[in-house]
Amino acid sequence: MSGALDGVVAAVTGASSGIGEATARALAAEGATLALLARRRDRLESLAGELGTATTVHEVDVSDADAVAGSIDEVVARHGRLDVLVNNAGYGTMTPAAEADLAEWRTMVDVNVNGVLATTHAALRHLTTAAAGDRGVADVVTISSVAGRKVANPAVNVYAATKHAVGAFSEALRQEFAAQHVRIGLVEPGLVRSELTAANGALGEVGELGVMEATDIAEAVIYMVTRPRRVAVNEILVRPIEQTR
Ligand SMILES: NC(=O)c1ccc[n+]([C@@H]2O[C@H](COP(=O)([O-])OP(=O)(O)OC[C@H]3O[C@@H](n4cnc5c(N)ncnc54)[C@H](OP(=O)(O)O)[C@@H]3O)[C@@H](O)[C@H]2O)c1
Repeated sequence: MSGALDGVVAAVTGASSGIGEATARALAAEGATLALLARRRDRLESLAGELGTATTVHEVDVSDADAVAGSIDEVVARHGRLDVLVNNAGYGTMTPAAEADLAEWRTMVDVNVNGVLATTHAALRHLTTAAAGDRGVADVVTISSVAGRKVANPAVNVYAATKHAVGAFSEALRQEFAAQHVRIGLVEPGLVRSELTAANGALGEVGELGVMEATDIAEAVIYMVTRPRRVAVNEILVRPIEQTR
């Protein structure tokens, strides 16, 4: 069966659960060959077992820039190319500043900002090479958040700051890499059911129409990376139907 992403190599960070796992499955369903990155190797191996023998597993903490560079080099060494990078790994707590733990703030910056910077920095030269080749285009998709567009409540303080930061970074990259045909996309989800939102209390009392599933966000990523090469979908803001903020 042929897919829209046959021959494409895609690396997904945070592929061990939630949106990253769903995105890896969706990319594989379109024919892409997957490189799965995260810290929990057992989860990645189990997903790789489902996705097929070409899938590779890369155990890495995205906040360790040297380790990330090593993993991206390993991806290209194993697969020969890199066409799509999905910057999905992320972490978020929601605590009013007066009660917050500085270490938690630093972790959010390390994963959500420094992780995206390190992964993108390591991947860009491979993406420009891929874009100059047979496919004629390459993609960076970063999973930001509604919190990257607005501060809906004060408890999102540092999480929102990290997502605003990757939004600004992505816009700069978009301008710089347009001529080299590396598309830069931001997906900005509202509330999604995941380990993250279960752990940080965001799911609260929301009803069925107040929360999305990880597969809903994976579909947005697939939409971005399967457009004709003349089309760059730079942002997708997607909320559950009943989310008002
Ligand atoms: N759920 C929502 O409502 C929502 C809304 C907007 C945006 N987002 C964003 O969506 C992305 C995915 O979140 P999710 O909701 O799917 O949560 P999740 O299920 O908790 O997934 C987070 C992923 O990030 C990985 N990760 C975390 N820290 C890492 C590190 N230091 N190094 C490498 N990987 C790391 C985790 O893997 P390991 O633990 O195995 O390393 C896991 O695979 C995040 O960027 C999040 O900010 C989520």
